[in-house]
This record gives sequence, structure tokens and C-alpha cells, in this order.
Amino acid sequence: MESISIGLLGLGTVGAGVVKIVENHQDKLSHQIGCPVTVKKALVQDLEKDRGLDIENSILTLNPEEVLFDPEIDIVVEVMGGIEATKEHLLHALHEGKHVVTANKDLMALHGPELLRAASENGCDLFYEASVAGGIPILRSLVDGLASDRITKMMGIVNGTTNFILTKMTKEGRTFDDVLKEAQDLGYAESDPTADVGGLDAARKMAILSTLGFSMNVDLADVKVKGITEVTGDDIQYAEQFGYTMKLIGYAHREGEKVEVSVEPTLLQNEHPLASVHDEYNAVYVYGEAVGETMFYGPGAGSLPTATAVVSDMVGIMKNMRLGVNGKSAVNPQFPKKLKEPDEIHSKYFLRLHVRDEVGVLAKLTSIFSNHGVSFEKILQNPLDSDEFAEIVLVTHKASLEHYEDILMELKDYEAVHSIESSYRVEGGEKG
Ligand code: NAP
Ligand code: HSE
Repeated sequence: MESISIGLLGLGTVGAGVVKIVENHQDKLSHQIGCPVTVKKALVQDLEKDRGLDIENSILTLNPEEVLFDPEIDIVVEVMGGIEATKEHLLHALHEGKHVVTANKDLMALHGPELLRAASENGCDLFYEASVAGGIPILRSLVDGLASDRITKMMGIVNGTTNFILTKMTKEGRTFDDVLKEAQDLGYAESDPTADVGGLDAARKMAILSTLGFSMNVDLADVKVKGITEVTGDDIQYAEQFGYTMKLIGYAHREGEKVEVSVEPTLLQNEHPLASVHDEYNAVYVYGEAVGETMFYGPGAGSLPTATAVVSDMVGIMKNMRLGVNGKSAVNPQFPKKLKEPDEIHSKYFLRLHVRDEVGVLAKLTSIFSNHGVSFEKILQNPLDSDEFAEIVLVTHKASLEHYEDILMELKDYEAVHSIESSYRVEGGEKG
């Protein structure tokens, strides 16, 4: 190979990082693959925008065909975002025999299997390391580094925006809206931050992680999702008082042949390794039967960290090109998907409720829990401003989700319960 040509779809935050790394690390890249790498074309929306890059304006184009159908382009790097039209672009590229690198978790969580099939049918590589946890090489670690093990649990802080918000709410006592604005200004949040704070962005990443880690096709629709918009300062203070840290946790657990995958605000025991992952940082805790506990930590977003993963995928493709083995590395899922039922999902739960402050109410609450075989690990009662009501905050021992949901229904029906203020999963005591 005399040189490798790259075509970019998108030249924004991540695309600009790719151009910088290709330029600044050209010596290392050429040494590894045996020839120079050049960016030949880049699809954008606005030809006039100042991108702060030292590039010829002639490489910019508004026409995707100049990237997708240029016979000299070997690798198409998709860093523009979007789903349906972007999928069509990538299918065209693959049919043209071009290898693809994408950072697009929205696309891979929804259409990953179809795109991977098209890649393999056309003898092409399709790599997507940057789609989960930005600069952390977590997908390669699952597929290659832990290839010999059976992974039973993955817990991830895989959204930088929500981790930044919860960290600032916890450490600085700031409000959700105030910190979200700062996360947007710093460029962590998506242009529409609903997917970040609503948990969807993390759910997409957990679907990708679970599919690879458990070797079964876990769809986005299989992931139970709850975001952080209802987390309050009071919840965070009680969490601290009880020895927990509030985090948005992606939780993927395999028991026997069945899995559960969720994203939800979770009270993590302070001793858990993920509890000390702060600000916009990401981390993925992986438990393998043989290896035990491992954790992968680093920047989950940002121009150069994310571009590092993209360019490393490019290097993987270029090495495969040299060896003539493109399109042969993807492994189809080994297992059929089997999801746990609510009676097979077990956890501790934190519950905060406002009740009438009367004789017998606490006894009745206790009986509602004990009738379902659930006991309390911690409980406290605080008076509220009005003498009429009190706040009860409790953490249960482990309970099945089925029993816990039944308990919540009964509490809602009990006339002495004024409101269920909040309810969260509690994790961290067990490893595998
Ligand atoms: P961005 O800054 O908004 O850049 C998007 C780029 O794509 C821009 O150059 C834009 O052109 C171009 N573009 C968008 N729609 C287009 C269209 N229809 N036709 C032509 N060009 C189009 O986005 P980003 O932050 O780099 O993110 C890119 C992808 O990486 C997304 O899938 C994102 O989820 C993923 N990702 C991002 C991060 C991160 O930290 N930013 C981390 C991990 C993964 P103009 O510049 O002319 O507007
Ligand atoms: N908005 C995402 C985050 C960017 O906050 O983690 C990286 O995928």
C-alpha cells in the first residue's frame, strides 16, 4: 500500500479531533501501518464555517457521494451523527467495498446487526469503539482482552453529562438546571440534552456493551431506562447520610442464560469503585468469572479523547488491510437473547415517602413490606414542616423487583401515604 485515504462524514467536534490526530501522530501511524494516511474528503453542512483546522478548503464537500463513491477512499469515518440517512450512507459505503469507522451509538444501538452483516457480506470492517465511553477502549477490551472469560456483570457510568450534573449537585449543592447549563456550555451534552438526562444515551451504550459482553443481541428496547431529571438535593443528602453516592448506572447482569439490562439513578455504596468516578469521567466495571473485578476509566467524551478511539479503529482496519483479513473479525452472537422476568431481578431499594404522622402508620408500613417477605436494612423518620406529616426514608434488604413493585402499588393505595417522593435501586455490595 502506498498510502491510505480517509473520507470523513462530518467535521465537527470529533471529526476535527480525527484530523488533528492524523496530522500530529502521522509518524506513529505510518510506522504501524507502513504507509502515510491522508484525509481526502470531508462532508459538512457549511463550507464557510471556521473549524480552527489547518486544512485545504478543497477537501470540504456538501455532497456525500464525493466521499461514498470516490474509488480512492479506503475508509469512511462517520462522525456526523443521525440515524436513518446516516445508515443509508454507510450501507452505500460498504457496498462500495469501503471500510467504516463510526462513533455513532444512536445508529449502532438501533441498526448495528444490519450494518455489521452488510460489512461482513462485503468483506469490509466496521468498527465503532468511540460509540461507547469515548476515549476508553472498552469494546476492544470486551471482545479481545476478555475473550477467554465469561462476563457476568457490567456496570457503567457511560454518560459524562449526567455524571457531571450529579457530581456538582452532590459536592457543590447546585441545582440540576444550573449544572445542566454548564455541561452544555462545556460541550459534554448532546445538542438536544434530553437523551443525556433522560438516560437514553446511556441506554444505547449499554445495549452495545451487553451485546458484546454477553454475546447476545440486546436491543435498545430491552434496556429499562430512567433518567436523572427527578433526582433532588434531598435524595442526594439522604444517600450521603446512608453511606451511598448517587450515580446514573448502566447495569447489565447475567445469571445462567438470562440477562437484565437497565439504566437508572442508583445509590452506590461508597466503597464501590464506580462511586469515586466524578465529573464528566466515564468508567465501566466488568466482572468476569475467571478474571474477577476489572474497571476501565477515562474521558467519555470530547474531541481528542473520542478521536483517539476513532483513529485506533482506523489503524485496526489498516493492519487488517495489510494482512488481507478485512471483514473476518466480527463474531456473531453466540446465545439467543433471554431476558430476566421481574421475579428474577433482585436488588436493594431506597424509598422516601411522606406519610400522615399518626399512631399505627409505621406498623402498617412494616406489615406491607413484611407481607411480601421484604425487610428493612435502614429506616429513619423525620418530621416535616407541617405537624400532620412525616418523612420516612428506608433501604430494604434484597427484594425481587416483582415484590417491590407490588409493595409500591399497595403503598400508593394506603390512604396514610401522602406521596412517594422517590425510589431508587441500591447497588454495590456484591461483585459478580
Ligand atoms: P458535531 O460537532 O455536531 O459535528 C457533526 C458534523 O457533521 C459537523 O461537521 C456537521 O457539519 C456534519 N453534519 C451533520 N449533519 C450533516 C448532514 N446532514 N450533512 C452533512 N454534514 C453534516 O458532532 P460531534 O460531537 O462531533 O459528534 C459526532 C458523532 O460522534 C455523533 O454520532 C456523536 O454521538 C458521536 N460522539 C460524540 C462524542 C463527543 O464527545 N462529541 C463522543 C462520542 C461519540 P457542519 O460542521 O458544517 O455543521
Ligand atoms: N453526550 C454524551 C455524554 C457524549 O455526555 O456522555 C459522549 O457520548
